[in-house]
Amino acid sequence: MSTLPRSNTIYDGAEMLVLQAQLGDWDNLNHLIICKSSGQATIVDPFSGRYWARVCGERGYTLTSALLTHSHWDHSKGVAGLLKVIPEVRVWVHQLESGRGWEGPDTDRWDHSPLTSVDFHLGNLTFKVHCTPGHTPGHVTICGHGIVLSGDCLFLGRCGRTDLFGGDMRAQHESLIYLKSILAEFPEDWLVLPGHQYALADGSNPTFTTVGELLVGNAALAAAGDWDEFSRLEFLSFDDSLAVRARRQRAKTREHSH
Ligand SMILES: [Fe+2]
Repeated sequence: MSTLPRSNTIYDGAEMLVLQAQLGDWDNLNHLIICKSSGQATIVDPFSGRYWARVCGERGYTLTSALLTHSHWDHSKGVAGLLKVIPEVRVWVHQLESGRGWEGPDTDRWDHSPLTSVDFHLGNLTFKVHCTPGHTPGHVTICGHGIVLSGDCLFLGRCGRTDLFGGDMRAQHESLIYLKSILAEFPEDWLVLPGHQYALADGSNPTFTTVGELLVGNAALAAAGDWDEFSRLEFLSFDDSLAVRARRQRAKTREHSH
């Protein structure tokens, strides 16, 4: 179908291939990671499961898993469809996402503590899955083999909002301090692949950047380590319908706990 959104090759190395596509009306970026030697693939934050099952089918990859950086609707929407067309696919999400009411569908849950990591294997590739809460209670950031999949924890110019149900500004600050030290150890040319394509302050609208550029140009990372400066950042909360809903959800949770 010519109407399908394009997936672009954004990384092509000896061991790994990465395809990126912008799907849906919320600027979501989806990433398909392929282990070249095994032909196994994992999709990160699928907006459409059928789309990625089709891409893998056409190219001869075996889609073995889906990884959710977090459970927000626009990052997990494709899971149900994916399980329908590939019932054996493993769907990973962090257990702490239940703190915002996530009940699946998924098949496997990470349960490591915030600011620690566990390994995830895809064929012959091994990634570190870091638990970086703040945008949501169990957000993860996935790193390895020259890429950083930052979901809604870190966008290219800023970080994710912390005012939605289950969000936590202090946890986000701690996660960014943690990530900053981890990113500083990576080669500067590693790619940062966020969960959304949001325009930068200079008006450009890239879909990825490098670790070197992120460490210099990301306003949230720049403020991390200085709570007063961080807590004043204007993109941590917004005056919109999502914030109203989050306030209602928090009030309801308080009612139930009394
Ligand atoms: Fe999100």
